Amino acid sequence: MLRGNKELWLAFLSCVLVTGVYAAILFSTREIPAAGELFGHSIGIFGFILMLMTEILYSLRKRSKFATWGRMSTWLQIHIFTGLVGPYMVLLHTSWKFNGLAGATTLLTFIIVVSGFIGRYIYTRIPRTMDGLEIEGTLSQEALKRARQLMSLWHTVHIPIGMALFISAFVHIGAALYYATFLK
Ligand code: HEM
Ligand code: HEM
Repeated sequence: MLRGNKELWLAFLSCVLVTGVYAAILFSTREIPAAGELFGHSIGIFGFILMLMTEILYSLRKRSKFATWGRMSTWLQIHIFTGLVGPYMVLLHTSWKFNGLAGATTLLTFIIVVSGFIGRYIYTRIPRTMDGLEIEGTLSQEALKRARQLMSLWHTVHIPIGMALFISAFVHIGAALYYATFLK
């Protein structure tokens, strides 16, 4: 069960901190950090690593018979934390230009974050143990059935968006590194 919204606050504070560093660089250089320069590039790489962790770690803990370490609720909190801070860093990486495939990748990132919030809302409607297993709660059977149906419908949308996002991100990274970094 997800209790409270500690992970949302921690993600918010981390984003404020990152914004502080971004603002300091912006004011000292009087330029928007470019996506291909040291800061913009680093924040893109770091943010993308956080996004990859979001995509892989929770599913691994949830689905693998061997990955049994830590509570599911903690892994979901980590999922949400990295799923917010990573995309935010990537947003600052873009230098506020959204052309072509890189722009489409940013849009997909935005969509998956919004979809994540919707999923979090539905997920927390279903009573669960700390390990994420559903339990009989105070909810009426009819409402519980509806929440389950919504959750599985949500999965069929959220997971393919995630896949499309990573495919387009890898193409962008390959192209950006080839044209903007190695050919320089
Ligand atoms: C989901 C992750 C990412 C998204 C959504 C994203 C998005 C973007 C966007 C919107 C731009 C600006 C494009 C423009 O000028 O119109 C950009 C530029 C760039 N990105 Fe990313 N990026 C991501 C991850 C990465 C990573 C991990 C790397 C490096 C390994 C990278 C390398 C670059 C480079 C080098 C540029 C500058 C290209 C140039 O100067 O023309 N990006 N990215
Ligand atoms: C980079 C951003 C994100 C990616 C790539 C991503 C990817 C995924 C994937 C692949 C799953 C399916 C896990 C599984 O069943 O194996 C999932 C589930 C989930 N995600 Fe995300 N997510 C992201 C951001 C978020 C955010 C920001 C939130 C909340 C605000 C969120 C909330 C959830 C919830 C509640 C579940 C369902 C957990 C379950 O049914 O066990 N996600 N996400």
